[in-house]
Amino acid sequence: MTGTTEPAEPNESTEAAEPVEAAERAEVAELAEPVEAAELAEPNESTEAAERAEAAELAEPVESTEPAETVELAGPVEATESAAVVESAERSAVVHGPRRPGVPRLEARGLVKHFPMHSGIGRGMVVHAVEDISLVLPAGTVTAVVGESGSGKSTLARLLTGLIKPTAGEVLLDGVPVGTGAKARRTYTSSVHLVLQDPFSSLNSVHTVRYHLERPLKLHTKLGRAARAERMRQLLERVSLTPASDYLDKYPHELSGGQRQRVAIARGLAVEPRVLLADEPVSMLDVSIRLGVLNLLDDLRTGENLATMYVTHDIASARYLADCIVVMYAGQVVESGPATRITDEPAHPYTQLLLSAAPDPARAETPVLRGRGAPPSLVNPPSGCRFHPRCPFAMKVCVEQSPVAQPVATDHVSACWLHVSGLSDDQREPLAAAASNGSNGNGTSSTSSTSSVNGATSATSKENA
Ligand SMILES: Nc1ncnc2c1ncn2[C@@H]1O[C@H](COP(=O)(O)OP(=O)(O)O)[C@@H](O)[C@H]1O
Ligand code: SF4
Ligand SMILES: [Mg+2]
Repeated sequence: MTGTTEPAEPNESTEAAEPVEAAERAEVAELAEPVEAAELAEPNESTEAAERAEAAELAEPVESTEPAETVELAGPVEATESAAVVESAERSAVVHGPRRPGVPRLEARGLVKHFPMHSGIGRGMVVHAVEDISLVLPAGTVTAVVGESGSGKSTLARLLTGLIKPTAGEVLLDGVPVGTGAKARRTYTSSVHLVLQDPFSSLNSVHTVRYHLERPLKLHTKLGRAARAERMRQLLERVSLTPASDYLDKYPHELSGGQRQRVAIARGLAVEPRVLLADEPVSMLDVSIRLGVLNLLDDLRTGENLATMYVTHDIASARYLADCIVVMYAGQVVESGPATRITDEPAHPYTQLLLSAAPDPARAETPVLRGRGAPPSLVNPPSGCRFHPRCPFAMKVCVEQSPVAQPVATDHVSACWLHVSGLSDDQREPLAAAASNGSNGNGTSSTSSTSSVNGATSATSKENA
């Protein structure tokens, strides 16, 4: 680490004050809007969004908005929250993420995030965005978090940055719970860096590349002017923007999308982070330059020994980059395991659905599931297994009880009743909708089609029969 000491410049107090104010705006915006502002910002909003992103990296937590959330959770909503927290304490035994010896860089234990609704027909209710997720991010690994839009991926990433506070659960850095004091917070924000989806919104359009790289160096290191200049050159070279002199005085609009994302990553590397959280970092880039940025992330995993979480809706890119894939649906993890295993032998029907939507010429067998309906509302999610309204294999038990993740192979877990033996005939009764479908679109029965995709599911289904 270059250091996490207080900034040495005379103007540092002024600089440090700005992000706090921006963080307040971000926190307020977050509580007021159902969507992530930075992701949806129009180009002309990029300055404000960049400040929010910068606040995410540099600011300390703002406590003053917390009471609003607490107030919103009073009454009937509080009951929902309490139930979730109790359930979380009971259920967070399964830990997702790559298995490596030693203490993981970053660890989430039983994270829950419920957003209070302040307006509209759901006023007074909560959005169940993240439910009871335990995850490890070891050094030198990439963990892909995959799921459709609205499944809670960004909320999980923001919880891990500390930009938002969990409803329940905790985050540990190097095995130590993250403190709430100013110094602990500063250390944490310089250790954990978030790369956003839209490189335009994460950079301030009125400032040059030089400003973006020099600012964190001023705030987080004691480097003098000459040493900062050398470090900026190294950073740009690290992300393959060479020669550095060609880029330092450019504004974001003078760079391509891929170059902007590289600058955003270089800015994050300025404080020598140990954890990189990349939220859909290539989804807004041209296909032709996506691979370059993915390869850069791959390179950082080994070169910098970073613990990386790669958030994406594209399971094919997850397979390309990640050691481990964690599949999220409607705020919950439904399956996780080694990337090749998850993509070659998906155990959960939702993962099979995701794969069926991802073209893969290398795959010998066509996945059996076709698109069925849309993800549910997270204000009032379906009972039992949240995937049951879309699942062709849904049984009576799926509506009544939430399945718990359990092993289907080494380091591979899936939360589905199809893997559970000992269900009664009544519990295994197919849902009317699934029964009326009678097939999965390929003309095969639900049970046999599951068998054709997934040996593990096949075996347990036979057990059940
Ligand atoms: N600040 C917020 N206030 C209320 N709801 C939110 C907020 N942020 C996210 N949500 C909701 O949480 C759910 C998960 O969102 P998100 O984490 O952005 O999903 P993803 O990144 O997988 O698309 C969505 O229903 C979204 O509308
Ligand atoms: S079989 Fe049941 S538990 Fe498994 S994914 Fe379908 S609905 Fe969910
Ligand atoms: Mg998102």
